[in-house]
Amino acid sequence: MIPIIDLAAQYRELKTEMDAAIARVFESSQFVLGKETAALEEEFAAYCNVPHAIGVNSGTSALHLALLAAGVGPGHEVITVPFTFFATAATVGYVGATPVYVDIDPATFNMDVSQIEAAITEKTRAIMPVHLYGLPADMRPILDIARRHNLIVIEDVAQAVGAEYQGQPAGSIGDIGCFSFYPTKNLGAAGEGGMVTTSNPEYARTIRSLRSWGEERRYYAVLKGYNYRLQGIQAAILRVKLSRLDAWTKTRCALAAEYDRLLKNADVVCPSTLPGARHVYCLYTIRAAHRDALQRDLELAGIQTAVHYPTPIHLMPAYADERYKAGDFPAAEACAQTVLSLPLHAHMSYEQVAEVSDRVLQLAGKKSHETVLTGR
Ligand SMILES: Cc1ncc(COP(=O)(O)O)c(C=O)c1O
Repeated sequence: MIPIIDLAAQYRELKTEMDAAIARVFESSQFVLGKETAALEEEFAAYCNVPHAIGVNSGTSALHLALLAAGVGPGHEVITVPFTFFATAATVGYVGATPVYVDIDPATFNMDVSQIEAAITEKTRAIMPVHLYGLPADMRPILDIARRHNLIVIEDVAQAVGAEYQGQPAGSIGDIGCFSFYPTKNLGAAGEGGMVTTSNPEYARTIRSLRSWGEERRYYAVLKGYNYRLQGIQAAILRVKLSRLDAWTKTRCALAAEYDRLLKNADVVCPSTLPGARHVYCLYTIRAAHRDALQRDLELAGIQTAVHYPTPIHLMPAYADERYKAGDFPAAEACAQTVLSLPLHAHMSYEQVAEVSDRVLQLAGKKSHETVLTGR
């Protein structure tokens, strides 16, 4: 079986350091926040080239607190995409605001920036681009539009730690960046975790307070806050992994380039990147016309794949909204039918990439003139 990800291999590489890091936390007994979290925040802020990083207990909490700090609340609208993980849209709902969707560009799977201005109303407060699969959204036009309309930009960087856009780290480009350390992410905890980054000291102060009951000092709340604190053990583990992140990203990019090369003639569309962007391939996601059959056949051949994501948010019962119906976001809906994430992780071999590619070529066939899907 070729797994889509191999977290045990990652642990084997780091076992000595990870075990020592966990022991450090037991010795200090600082299980919640504590000095490991403070140290991770400092190292992560430096990594993202921002003055402030605040550790939280998930990417979802990061998005929730970012929206609160930005003053987004009932009656406001937030422009985002329907082709994403639930949390992007769900957290807009947590603060009582309404997500307003724009379609994606099927070549990059990210927000189609040409559709943003038409979605702006007097209620719009923020734009929340998602850097899906590890590729930054086209941030320059997003920032231009946001500045012109006085909107806050919250980057959903859950899948894109280490990515860059025109030389700037993802998470440092908009007003606030929100990261997830879910175990399958490029920088994954041994459980849940997240981080908020910002250059705005006011946002940083509010988020720091809100993540721990809105405390200004011990047992004295000035804001109605949450229990969204990062655990010391997670921070200690993340510090070890952060020291390897750039090396792992390099390997991911090299393996992705190998997939691109080997799948050039297969009847699938390989992921594109954006000029001036560094894609970090949290996922290597192709498009295939007969996706479900391909996925089934690959599974029979011992190759694990996944679909991120089979249903756009506006078509899920939980997030149904009378303003939206099937057909409203054709690119998102088409991608939901055709995307397939292939195995890719930093501990994978070139032989495994070759084996997966051979199977895809065999099962999807070669490109022909009748190919329906086109890359760009
Ligand atoms: C795009 C995106 N946003 C937000 C999240 C939420 O992060 P978490 O699972 O850490 O709460 C995820 C995690 O899967 C994600 O992929």
